[in-house]
Amino acid sequence: MINNNKKYVPVLVVDFGSQTTQLILRRIREIGIYCEVISYQQIMDKIKELKPKAIIFSGGPSSAFHRFSPKVDKEVFDIKIPILGICYGMQIICEQLNGKVNKTHKREFGKAYIRALKKSTLFKDNIKLNSKTQVWMSHGDEVVKVPTGFEIIARSDNNIAAISNKKKKIYGLQFHPEVIHTLKGKQLIRNFVLHIAKIKQEWKINDFLEEQVSLIKNKVGKNKVICGLSGGVDSSVVAALINKAIGNQLTCIFVDHGLLRKYEEKEVIYNFKKYTNAKIIYVNAKNLFMQKLKGIKDPERKRKVIGREFIKIFEIEAKKIKDAKFLAQGTLYPDVIESKIIQGSKLKVIKSHHNVGGLPKRLNLELIEPLRELFKDEVRSLGKELNLPDNIIQRHPFPGPGLAIRIPGEITANKIRILQNADYIYINELKKYKLYNKIWQAFCVLLPIRSVGVMGDSRSYELTLSIRAITSKDGMTAEVFYFKEDFIQNLAGKIIGQVKGINRVLYDITSKPPATIEWE
Ligand code: XMP
Repeated sequence: MINNNKKYVPVLVVDFGSQTTQLILRRIREIGIYCEVISYQQIMDKIKELKPKAIIFSGGPSSAFHRFSPKVDKEVFDIKIPILGICYGMQIICEQLNGKVNKTHKREFGKAYIRALKKSTLFKDNIKLNSKTQVWMSHGDEVVKVPTGFEIIARSDNNIAAISNKKKKIYGLQFHPEVIHTLKGKQLIRNFVLHIAKIKQEWKINDFLEEQVSLIKNKVGKNKVICGLSGGVDSSVVAALINKAIGNQLTCIFVDHGLLRKYEEKEVIYNFKKYTNAKIIYVNAKNLFMQKLKGIKDPERKRKVIGREFIKIFEIEAKKIKDAKFLAQGTLYPDVIESKIIQGSKLKVIKSHHNVGGLPKRLNLELIEPLRELFKDEVRSLGKELNLPDNIIQRHPFPGPGLAIRIPGEITANKIRILQNADYIYINELKKYKLYNKIWQAFCVLLPIRSVGVMGDSRSYELTLSIRAITSKDGMTAEVFYFKEDFIQNLAGKIIGQVKGINRVLYDITSKPPATIEWE
């Protein structure tokens, strides 16, 4: 939020490497309060810069009693800004303020129950004294002594579950209120930000829109901006937003690798012209990509080849735009956080698509990433504010390498055609039966398996198609969307009847984990 040209962030979430830091942010923004995540190393500088009214310490994998585990500058405990420590966050409060944390022999993972021992504003209208409530725990250490001035306000069967220093407005929770399995967690966070920190619910996507328009105008001045367009929600919203700020100083480059859905390139260009007055350069590179992908079966090599060629073409086109100084990208907040967490962690890279920063530095353009602070649903709300139509805003995510990673094995022009036709029928059926918007992502995968069938009086020996539909909040985990039997039967019949080359349809019922969303 911008007040008098200075950025103001009401809540800062200090990240100690928890898997659920993103959820803390989501919960706070859902309340209508803006917040950002910062690293623990920057805490005092960020407080001076962003003037927060509340601070939340996230959980984390370290042990607070280790000499070199992440800690905060102790000054933060004396500046009278309310603090809520979650899990590791509570443990460092105790450790740094002369309480004590030990390894516990009674580790708690998953569901647990706590009992409130004292009244607290944190529990207001939510958790009654002495009542038991279900929470979600994930810890191997425990607080064994609370610091002076603190009291224990809740316990689980095994450990201290919540602490409070009312005078200093410093609170700690051993469990994770941000996780939905903590049944009253959302209200706990609400109580902290609304009733303890007394922050107003002022965050609206329209404020964000106006702020961004003025920031982009100031930053860009009279210069030109280039933006890669894919037709997906993120790049469409970026293009519309930048266009609103600087009009036709924006040029979008749309590289068509031929791995898009049926009619998609026409739709993208049509929408672009309808909803912006920026310039567009359309590059038909279908043949080139087909040549480069010939004979390649390995998914990671497909991604590398597509990424490399895309960048080459983009670079050639970008260099033709004289005086371009900026490159706009639709990087979202989860990408930013995720790439930070991945740095230096032991997590293995499953797929190579998490590409913050994107195009090569040699383009010599400065990056503009106006969606960097937003989650997908917020990007969709922003698209609405920009008057983009539902068919852009509600579009399912589509991977950069497109249909290439939905054709396991070698890609041929014929396979692309078959997949495009099947996908077209599938998506239209979803729209017809009003299922499309209930699903996060739905697509077909053309498997390199032929099977025998009988069509009419003839024997067929054709390819197999797998149908996938999932629900998700952010693509990190996914649940299967189960269709009614008649829908799926009717769909399979339609596809086999109308798409030459397929004689068998399978329905994928695997969630993520253990599978990933895409097959490659
Ligand atoms: P997975 O398959 O990793 O997918 O569960 C999670 C989300 O990411 C998309 N995805 C990609 N997006 N380039 C992209 O831009 C890629 O290489 C890529 N691979 C997967 C996938 O569609 C889902 O939304």
